[in-house]
Amino acid sequence: MSPSSPLTRRVLLAAPAVLACAAAPRGVASSRAVTPLSGLHRRATRGNRFFGTAIDPGLLAHDPAYMARVPQECGIVVSESAFKWGALRPRPDAYSFDGADALAEYAARHGLPLRGHTLLWHKDNPAWLDEALTPAGGERLLTEHIRAVAGHFRGRVVHWDVANEAVWPPDGRPGGLRDSPWHRALGPAALDLAFHACAEADPAPLRFLNEDQIEYAWDAHARKRGAVLDLLADLLARGVPVQALGMQAHLEAGVTDLDQTALARFCADVASLGLRIAVTELDVRDNRLPADPAIRDAEVAAHARAYLDAVLPCPAVLGVLTWGLSDRRTWLNDEIPRADGLPQRALPLDAALRRKPLWHALAAAFESAPPRPA
Ligand code: XIL
Repeated sequence: MSPSSPLTRRVLLAAPAVLACAAAPRGVASSRAVTPLSGLHRRATRGNRFFGTAIDPGLLAHDPAYMARVPQECGIVVSESAFKWGALRPRPDAYSFDGADALAEYAARHGLPLRGHTLLWHKDNPAWLDEALTPAGGERLLTEHIRAVAGHFRGRVVHWDVANEAVWPPDGRPGGLRDSPWHRALGPAALDLAFHACAEADPAPLRFLNEDQIEYAWDAHARKRGAVLDLLADLLARGVPVQALGMQAHLEAGVTDLDQTALARFCADVASLGLRIAVTELDVRDNRLPADPAIRDAEVAAHARAYLDAVLPCPAVLGVLTWGLSDRRTWLNDEIPRADGLPQRALPLDAALRRKPLWHALAAAFESAPPRPA
């Protein structure tokens, strides 16, 4: 297997045993159809890390300029929503892989490893799921779905976000688990089932628990960090095949409570369990900031830099993905809009696809972090 073959690249991003003695990262970038001489992935690979972003079928179909920038900046991609139940399962007896396959084909065409997101979540589910999710039927439904989906993408996905946002202590459930439709039907067993089913359907991809809201000094975030650690330790003790933690990192500029010490400690604690970590959905919303783009861009960049400086030194942190590459499109404008109606400036490229201060903050953070062991 040559150091630059697609299989080598997949393995580099997947199997933990191989990651520990990964081949030179240069091989990851140099084998790509478009060689990004100065892109963020290139900067990240110098320290044995990756950089990537979320893409969706709409961009693929309608924004060639945006999609052309993806291989220049990225070494890995994730589907924003095309792999979720809501996209894949129009009816209980049907799978619709068109959008997800289009993204997988794009990724393969450009030599970009692909993350799968996600197999178990309390949001973006089809309307029929609520009724079907009974204690009796839920187990079969979940197992069959994961077998079908992870089986469909077998050999094409390097990471699976097996479970997304499973922890939320304020819900008051045992173990700090979220009060989700899955949890109501199956209890904590939903997580066990999902990780086992994924490992059986495709053992190669690195299997993640992907979690939000752990960054700040706020009580809810502190409790969540503790509950995530306890959950991971408990899953491992019971032989559940979780291998990595995704830290979403939907950040908010202007918040002064970024807890760098707690974050660094949290990463070390996760690593001490033998798990890998990735920053999976980084973006920085600017709702608290004034309209002036220069002020927003500077604060967004400084906030992301402070976050990255806390987490990148941990050798378990494999890399960073942003939740979109350009301010042309971000979910934040739909779900957490600014009060003044201006578009958010949350991502590394502006709406004209030019590099912003956030791009430079990412590049500088990758360059100044100590290299991960090769
Ligand atoms: C978001 C997508 O970006 C939106 O387009 C969609 O409407 C809702 O989901 N955390 C996650 C992602 O894990 O799946 C979410 O993505 C953003 C928050």
